Amino acid sequence: MKHPKHSCRVWNDRPGTVLFAFLILFTNGTMLAQELGDHQYTSESIQAGLRVYSRECALCHGPAGDLVSGINLARGEFRTASSDDDLRSVITEGRAQGQMPAFALREEELSGVIAYIRAGLDPDGVAVRIGDPVRGKALFEGRGECADCHRVNGVGPRTAPDLSEIGVMRSPVSLQLNLIDPGAAILPINRPVRIVTRNEETITGRRLNEDTYTVQLIDSEERLRSLQKSDLVTYEISDQPSKQPTSLSSDEVADVIGYLLTLRGAP
Ligand code: HEC
Ligand code: HEC
Repeated sequence: MKHPKHSCRVWNDRPGTVLFAFLILFTNGTMLAQELGDHQYTSESIQAGLRVYSRECALCHGPAGDLVSGINLARGEFRTASSDDDLRSVITEGRAQGQMPAFALREEELSGVIAYIRAGLDPDGVAVRIGDPVRGKALFEGRGECADCHRVNGVGPRTAPDLSEIGVMRSPVSLQLNLIDPGAAILPINRPVRIVTRNEETITGRRLNEDTYTVQLIDSEERLRSLQKSDLVTYEISDQPSKQPTSLSSDEVADVIGYLLTLRGAP
């Protein structure tokens, strides 16, 4: 039997595209450095927050943030708060008749302590800004166009991963990366594939699973396909994500992340 050709090369491997690809990479890289600045708290802010936290908060919440029952500041588990603005109100207004006191902090101290909480109480951590989940949901379904590709709680297409449980599966940092630099965030298994079968059918889609002899994918018509590799003439895996970095502003991305973090599967 003649062995079928399994080529696992990348799309767009024509020589002329190399310079172009380089330019894209380059501009992307510059953009990313600036963009991240707006999307994340600075390390100075986190350090300032550490000082405020040790002085004002550690007494009750403990150095690891887990001493008040039902609250784990390091893991982002609160009672009522979810967005950074909610944290602001909790800290400036207090809660539970003053058991959680109201603090009159300077602006740098206030945003610093929020940054330190978002960094997981790790002074060297990364602190992603987290916005309002209600606004985030509206953006997800509207201008952000996320719902054009993603399914949530039984609604939406199957061409992209179902996000119903994404809030427990991924950290804010990885969610953020997926939105602003999808090429860096893409999981190998999720890469787009293009397949030509021996019957000369061309199939494009998103890979779900693969073993030595078979590959499972969702094709562009949202059908689940399982193919024998021995029936394939061409099997190409793209290293390009099938989506562009989002055009939403950094405030809007923070809101969408706030919404994604509420997606935690069936209650
Ligand atoms: C005197 C003890 C005390 C101090 C000091 C204190 N907290 Fe609290 N904190 C509490 C208690 C008690 C609660 C739970 C309130 C409730 O029952 O809703 C709480 C709740 C919270 C919550 C969760 C609120 C919610 O509804 O989700 C956050 C966030 C928080 N504190 C942050 C801080 C920060 C930041 C500081 C320092 C600037 C701080 N706390 C200082 C006692 C304290
Ligand atoms: C053109 C279709 C498309 C659009 C529009 C789109 N995505 Fe995606 N998204 C994908 C595909 C395909 C993947 C899987 C490949 C990858 O990881 O890049 C994905 C991956 C993801 C992941 C990672 C899933 C995981 O398992 O880690 C998240 C989170 C996500 N998208 C959120 C969003 C949000 C939020 C928006 C709107 C701002 C959005 N996407 C817009 C197609 C899309």
